[in-house]
Amino acid sequence: MKATSLLERQHRKVESLFKQLEGGRSEPAPILAELANELAAHMAIEQERFYPAVRQIDEDLILEGYEEHAIAELALKRLISTSPEDASFKARVTTLKELIQHHVEEEEEELFPKVEEAMDEDRLQELGEQMRAEFEQRLSEGYEELLPAGYKKTSADRASHAKRADAASPG
Ligand SMILES: [Fe+2]
Ligand SMILES: [Fe+2]
Repeated sequence: MKATSLLERQHRKVESLFKQLEGGRSEPAPILAELANELAAHMAIEQERFYPAVRQIDEDLILEGYEEHAIAELALKRLISTSPEDASFKARVTTLKELIQHHVEEEEEELFPKVEEAMDEDRLQELGEQMRAEFEQRLSEGYEELLPAGYKKTSADRASHAKRADAASPG
């Protein structure tokens, strides 16, 4: 599967979980945990594999992507730490959903078309297969493993700084 198609499929999955969470017909805790796992694993493979692979296609969009992931991750952590009984629970679900929606629109309408234009089909397929395997691995680790504790540093900061350190090191 093409890398961009894989990521789009994961976007749809996250959207359906938001819908279930907002619908309020089932117990929120398990849906929230599934949402957190899906989102954390999705952001991880984008940050660690997809963004570095396509960075030279549009660096500004990629740097913006890391920042939007960082903010979404903070909103996700605030939501996870909120009881569904709390008066702010629903507002935090909506806020996270809107942040994700905006970010997904930028990826699907601006970034992915550029990537599909610039990268050849075989490479896009190969990257997709690699990312599919990594996603399953990350998903099985779970969000608690993937998201750094506290609010100072996000997984996006870790990935983008690791990338910068790579670029700065000789050879
Ligand atoms: Fe993203
Ligand atoms: Fe995405």
